[in-house]
Amino acid sequence: MPCVRPEIVAHRGASQHRAEHTRAAYELALQQGADGLECDIRLTRDGHLVCVHDRTVDRTSSGRGVVSTLTLAKLNELDFGGWHHELPDSADDLVHEPVAQPSAEVHDRGLLTLEDLLGLLKDSPPHVKLFIETKHPVRYTGLVEAKLVAQLRRHGLSAPVSKEESRIVVMSFSRLAVRRVREHAPKLPTVLLLDRLLPGLRTGALPDWADITGPGVHLLREDPDYVSRSAEQGHDTYCWTVDKPEDIDLCRRAGVRYLATNAPANTRRHLESG
Ligand code: G3P
Ligand code: CA
Repeated sequence: MPCVRPEIVAHRGASQHRAEHTRAAYELALQQGADGLECDIRLTRDGHLVCVHDRTVDRTSSGRGVVSTLTLAKLNELDFGGWHHELPDSADDLVHEPVAQPSAEVHDRGLLTLEDLLGLLKDSPPHVKLFIETKHPVRYTGLVEAKLVAQLRRHGLSAPVSKEESRIVVMSFSRLAVRRVREHAPKLPTVLLLDRLLPGLRTGALPDWADITGPGVHLLREDPDYVSRSAEQGHDTYCWTVDKPEDIDLCRRAGVRYLATNAPANTRRHLESG
C-alpha cells in the first residue's frame, strides 16, 4: 500500500480555529502550511460569486436570507466571523512561518468573494492549489460554472500548462456541473464529489469529464480499497472531511492524494508523527 504523505487541503480555510470562509480562516491555513484551500461558491442576486457554504447566510453571519436573493452590497454589511468561537492557536499549531500579513479584524470577518480568494491565492506559495466547489441554486443552472470559468480566465487560471500544474481544481457533487466545467475549460482538473458509491463507480472508473474522485471519508471506512482501484483507473483521490486521527491514518494507508481537513496544523502534525 502507498504511504506517501497526502497533501493537506484546508476545508473552508482553517475552519476549526476561525470562522469558515473568512479571510482569517484562509490566512491561518496558509500560515499552517496548507497545500491547498477549499471553498464553496454561490451566486449573489447581482451576479457575484461569493464563498458561502449554505443556501442561506443564517448560520454563518449576523444576517438572514438566501444568498441568491441578496446583493453583494447587502452581504458586505454582514459579519461572517461573529458566529464562530475563535480558538487560540498554540505556537505548536503554527508549524510554518506566516506567509501573509495579519489584516484588520473587520477585514478578516467580512464576506469573502471568489475574487478576494483568487487574490489571496496569487499571494500564496506557487504550489498552493484552490479547490473550488460549486454549490448552484437551481434557478442559476449553468450560470455559476460559466461565470466561474470566465473569472478564472480573466486571472489567467483557466488553461494551465498541465492539469498537474493547475493552481485551480473545480469540484461538485453535481455531475452536470462538473461536465459543464469540462466543456467550458477542458484543461482544468475536475473532482466528482461522492457521498455514495453508486454501483457504476465502485470499480474506480470515472466519466471522462472527471479527473479526480472525491469520496467522503465515510465511504473509505467501508471500502478503503476504493482508492487503489481508482489509482489503477488513473484517478487520484480527494477525500473529505478528515479530522480524526484514525481517518487520517486510513487515508494515508489507502493512498489518498488530497486530504480535506478543518484543522490543517493538527492534521499535519499527526501525519508527521506517524
Ligand atoms: O470538500 C468537499 C466537501 O466540502 C463537500 O461537503 O458539505 O462540506 O461542502 P461540504
Ligand atoms: Ca465544500
